[in-house]
Amino acid sequence: MRMHDAAEALSLVRPRPAGDADNLQTADVKGLVFQAGGRRLIDGVDLTINPGPITMIMGPNGAGKSLLLRLLHGLLTPTSGSVSWNGEKAGDGTRKRQAMVFQKPVLLRRSVAANVDFVLKLKNGRNRTERIERRNALLHSVGLSDHAKQPARLLSGGEQQRLALIRALASEPGVLFLDEPTASLDPASVLMIENAVSEAHLKGVKIIFITHDIGQVKRLGDEVVFMAKGRVTEQTSVPAFVSAPRSKEADAYLNGRLVI
Ligand SMILES: Nc1ncnc2c1ncn2[C@@H]1O[C@H](COP(=O)(O)OP(=O)(O)OP(=O)(O)O)[C@@H](O)[C@H]1O
Ligand SMILES: [Mg+2]
Repeated sequence: MRMHDAAEALSLVRPRPAGDADNLQTADVKGLVFQAGGRRLIDGVDLTINPGPITMIMGPNGAGKSLLLRLLHGLLTPTSGSVSWNGEKAGDGTRKRQAMVFQKPVLLRRSVAANVDFVLKLKNGRNRTERIERRNALLHSVGLSDHAKQPARLLSGGEQQRLALIRALASEPGVLFLDEPTASLDPASVLMIENAVSEAHLKGVKIIFITHDIGQVKRLGDEVVFMAKGRVTEQTSVPAFVSAPRSKEADAYLNGRLVI
């Protein structure tokens, strides 16, 4: 194997040139409404998501964060308004070039290694040796090398979540959505997930990450999109948000006053 190939196989996610339209990393959200059970659960959201920053979504339980993430990923159809990625409507076409890590990990009933191999095989252009090297590098990056042959369903919650993350990265997404991926994980698992997310971001993956953990926002985030009652109340850089959020909803949330 040439040096170049070895280096590439070891990298978590291949670098992509900035401004590559195929990345679909710029989202325009206009007048977005999602209604169910007679309630406007997403109640008129206008938002621009830019390729660069790690975007953290915060807000109280039931604010509509997970629904917004599903709408961005084209898993739900808006009642009205629109989500487009570089001008392309969010849906089956855009979703193929993005990946999502759910709060409850979604895994196949096979070994840890086979879970990653399955995703790598869907990608063209790699021979078997390259796939195995890349799988091993991904497993190593989140401390799962010793679990490779074990059935995925026997992993602990934190291990399953780390596997779900590298499965998402194996698909080489332009955008990675994460819905509270570290809720109820121990500090070591949290750190491994944050490191893998940071590394993916450095390689050019757009990150959109839901969390309730302000410490995590400070460690990982560049900007915060704050939601309350189905609306976005502010989109603010992390330093500004941490020192003084602009919306009264975010201020109440950070000070532990309930916003419902
Ligand atoms: N398909 C649905 N039909 C009816 N109501 C729904 C549906 N999906 C979600 N909801 C409601 O929409 C609201 C927003 O849900 P969502 O899951 O987006 O909240 P969230 O901000 O992610 O909260 P959490 O922090 O608890 O995860 C909740 O009140 C939820 O019960
Ligand atoms: Mg949620």
